[in-house]
Amino acid sequence: MRQTYSTQLAWVTGIPVLFIAVAFALIQSPEVLESPGIIAVTVGQVVPHPIEEHEHCSSCHSLKGIKPYPLNHLGWNDESCTKCH
Ligand code: HEC
Ligand code: HEC
Repeated sequence: MRQTYSTQLAWVTGIPVLFIAVAFALIQSPEVLESPGIIAVTVGQVVPHPIEEHEHCSSCHSLKGIKPYPLNHLGWNDESCTKCH
């Protein structure tokens, strides 16, 4: 009886923890999505300006910049931008 209970408890707590961990891992490391097949889903808008001379994306696109990026972009570095845009 007690063993059944602890097995159930392990499942009920374990699955949400795993789920949340994966979600946060994806938010922090978008490059994981680079594997072929998933990429089509995550393609962002095309960049409407030249990328040369504009490498420091976050100087204009951080939350306080002239053209802020969406909140889910917070913490991504400049090198990551062109993987999707
Ligand atoms: C000098 C400031 C500046 C820098 C640096 C810059 N941008 Fe921009 N970006 C802008 C402005 C201003 C707009 C809006 C232009 C418009 O709407 O025509 C824009 C628009 C965009 C858009 C389209 C937004 C939309 O609403 O469609 C994307 C995507 C984008 N930039 C990505 C990037 C990426 C990636 C980089 C780095 C390689 C970068 N930007 C660097 C100023 C900058
Ligand atoms: C994992 C792929 C991915 C990466 C990496 C990424 N973006 Fe995006 N970005 C998107 C998608 C998808 C959208 C549109 C959906 C949304 O609003 O969330 C978007 C939206 C934007 C917009 C707003 C466009 C609009 O229509 O308002 C800007 C500006 C932008 N990104 C800039 C950047 C910059 C700067 C970086 C680097 C710090 C970056 N992005 C990195 C996928 C990405």
